[in-house]
Amino acid sequence: MSIAVFGFEESARQAKALAQSLNAAFEPITVRSFPDGESLVRVTGSASLALLYRSLDQPNAKLVEVLLAAAALRDNGAAQVVLIAPYLAYMRQDMAFNPGEAISQRVIGELVSAHFDGLVTVDPHLHRVASLSEVFPGITALDVSGAPALAAALAGRLQPDTILVGPDSESRPWVESIARPPGLDVLVGEKQRFGDRDVTLVVPGIDAVRGRPAVLVDDMISSGTTLIACAGLLRNAGATSITALATHCLASDSDLARLKENGISEVIAADSVPGPVATISLAPVLAQAIAGQCWTEARRA
Ligand code: R5P
Repeated sequence: MSIAVFGFEESARQAKALAQSLNAAFEPITVRSFPDGESLVRVTGSASLALLYRSLDQPNAKLVEVLLAAAALRDNGAAQVVLIAPYLAYMRQDMAFNPGEAISQRVIGELVSAHFDGLVTVDPHLHRVASLSEVFPGITALDVSGAPALAAALAGRLQPDTILVGPDSESRPWVESIARPPGLDVLVGEKQRFGDRDVTLVVPGIDAVRGRPAVLVDDMISSGTTLIACAGLLRNAGATSITALATHCLASDSDLARLKENGISEVIAADSVPGPVATISLAPVLAQAIAGQCWTEARRA
């Protein structure tokens, strides 16, 4: 069976790194935009197992091109097409919170399942579902943890009295798994969200940061509002420095600048979403998860 990683231009570097980790070929996917906004997607090369690499930040534009690319890969002879989307969008809206709202997670899950034989993602933002297979019916869906890559990036960089801080209960698994091997102290906050840029936080036991460096750990940075609220508490409690670490950083340049203005001296993120702070390669953890899988069953009728 031949395997190749197919990647779009914006994340060609990350897709090539994955191909290298898997000892597989990399093939570029090109997109031409027509004046009316349509995309012409072109794949070159072929493989019986095609790993189609694209994170789904800015999903409305990217999803259509990903579906077009999957169809072109099958036309080129792929027996199986697996979507490698290190960042996966539309996972938060898993119910109708208000009458008439679309349940985005279900719609996107069914769409992806209808077009791909498998899905691999990293630290998806799931709330009320226990596993990805509930979201992606009938296909193998892998939920890879980014924590080992984040932990490796911190190794050897931290002073022994550094305290790791998760801003809310959802961040607990990441902050605890990163703190465990070096034996660092952990604090986990409690967050209430009132709007996209309106949160309040309390961090029980925050007095422990006085005179110590703090590292904020979260699965994702969107607007940066959560981290800014937490950084304010840490500054007031006497932290000597504040760094932020996340799997997915979707923050704009202006939001990154706001993080800095609010006392977060450095932001470090994995490269699921390419950007200025996305320096931690996820290729090793993705390759390890993919290598242990076998997408050999015949595609469902
Ligand atoms: C929340 O549930 C997540 O773990 C993140 O804390 C959140 O998505 C970050 O969003 P923002 O940066 O906009 O506060």
